[in-house]
Amino acid sequence: MKITLLGAGAIGGLWSCQLAKQGHHLHLWTRDNAKKINLTFKGLNQAETERFTFHCNDKAAVTESDCIFITVKAFQVEQALRDLHPYIGSTTPVIIMHNGMGTQQMVHQLLPNNPIIYATTSQAAFKSGPRQVNHTGIGQTWMGAENNAGNNFAFLVEVFNQALAPCQWHQDISQPLWQKLAINCAINPLTASHQCQNGKLARPEFNDLLTQICQEVATVMSAEGYRVKASELRQQVDGVIKATATNFSSMNQDICQQRPTEIDYITGYLIARAKVHDIPVPVNTQLWQQIKQLEQEYNDE
Ligand code: PAF
Repeated sequence: MKITLLGAGAIGGLWSCQLAKQGHHLHLWTRDNAKKINLTFKGLNQAETERFTFHCNDKAAVTESDCIFITVKAFQVEQALRDLHPYIGSTTPVIIMHNGMGTQQMVHQLLPNNPIIYATTSQAAFKSGPRQVNHTGIGQTWMGAENNAGNNFAFLVEVFNQALAPCQWHQDISQPLWQKLAINCAINPLTASHQCQNGKLARPEFNDLLTQICQEVATVMSAEGYRVKASELRQQVDGVIKATATNFSSMNQDICQQRPTEIDYITGYLIARAKVHDIPVPVNTQLWQQIKQLEQEYNDE
């Protein structure tokens, strides 16, 4: 398949290399105007690195793509789609994968006719240099249609599963998106404000806080129609903390490198939905405020 990927960060780079290994033609759309990019890739438990060269920033290649795959951060999705919009075929499927929620409505407005698929992944990757991608943990990927036209492209899940298993189709993609949101609400703000690896959250001093975060998320999720027990969310969060113990979360990295974070699409989205249902979420609100404060500090510098 011909695939245009936008957002070759850690997760985008991981998928680019894995899809290329399967023989797909990956074309990358990047912020600079490079004609090609070399990525060095280190697979899970691999001693050797592999080198991939990707063709980039070719408008005709976007138009000819069988699928557009957007892996930029949530707050970059709108600009990414505005930039690519003139070249995307009107019936080309667009897959969107990012932490957090809240971009769906804007995507529908910008691409009213395209099949839209949302995806969420617990695969772990990090970039140890601008062009060095490391796969650091296996995790589930879910894909599902965001509009009726998206359902006609459910076969894409097989393409992605071949490249990086396990990847499954979900009839209601909002459910796994909420599950992942719960994990991000628990892990990301805490690891960012405490400047620690995910594994540190397993220490007893974080126990009550994690329980309270999960309780608030479970209440909002249930009001949204996704009945879940706080204890189940807590178990999932603990599982991810353990599986990614040595990782620095994406928000930790963003704060550390003084970049904008996805807090408004993670905790901010939870707070917005809580407001709709008139549910108090004081612990998450405090975490949201802490991260906004940290962002503000380096924006003022
Ligand atoms: O944002 C992240 O870093 C990841 O989604 C997760 C699962 C929290 C692991 O670090």
